[in-house]
Amino acid sequence: MIYIANWKIYLSYQQEIKWVKENLQELGKLARKEDQVIICSSFVSLSNIKELLNNTTIGLGAQNCASNLSGAYTGEVSVISLKEIGCNYCIIGHSERRQYFCETDKDISLKIKLLFENNIIPILCVGETEEEHKKNQSKAAIESQLKNLDLPEDKEIIIAYEPIWSIGTGITPSNKYIEDICLHIKSLLKTKKHKIVYGGSVNQQTVVEIKKVASISGFLIGKASTDFQEFKKIVLL
Ligand code: PGA
Repeated sequence: MIYIANWKIYLSYQQEIKWVKENLQELGKLARKEDQVIICSSFVSLSNIKELLNNTTIGLGAQNCASNLSGAYTGEVSVISLKEIGCNYCIIGHSERRQYFCETDKDISLKIKLLFENNIIPILCVGETEEEHKKNQSKAAIESQLKNLDLPEDKEIIIAYEPIWSIGTGITPSNKYIEDICLHIKSLLKTKKHKIVYGGSVNQQTVVEIKKVASISGFLIGKASTDFQEFKKIVLL
């Protein structure tokens, strides 16, 4: 199973570093055999966290990247910098970025291309809104998010299925619902080198049930991942 901590901006720079420093020993032991743990911190902490994680198998991810490789794009962070720091993963197209930062499918497509070219594995978020869910349009919504992306057969990618109505709400879909959507996602992908993780209100109460979903290979965990003890339980349960 893959466990991805998406800290968003819940923690400050100092809190992020403290989280890693204080739990480094336990963190190193968390990823058992076939498990993979990935920390997606804020940009400013990535470099320091990379150094702290140096002798562990824990992966490091960014939460976003620029859709241009370099140039006059004030406030952006380039894929080249992420590569130089040693980031192995990058979250792309999170619903919060699509909603609050007007990120389009075109931006997402450009970012994915740059990540593939620089050997950083994209963690691509897809998912339906509450309205789409209620209107039975979940599959169509996800289909439209995936349709214009070039995901070559030989490139590794993690797809995070995150129903937007479940993020931060404490509400999770049934396992049958999650499996149905995941099978649909799989049917739309050319690449066989994909893994699907689930995201949306994952915590120690909800995770046990969702781990039973056959097509799920892991979790993208927001709020609950900021508390190490909670995160540890999610991984070990
Ligand atoms: P949540 O967030 O676990 O706090 O619901 C998940 C996400 O947005 O990736």
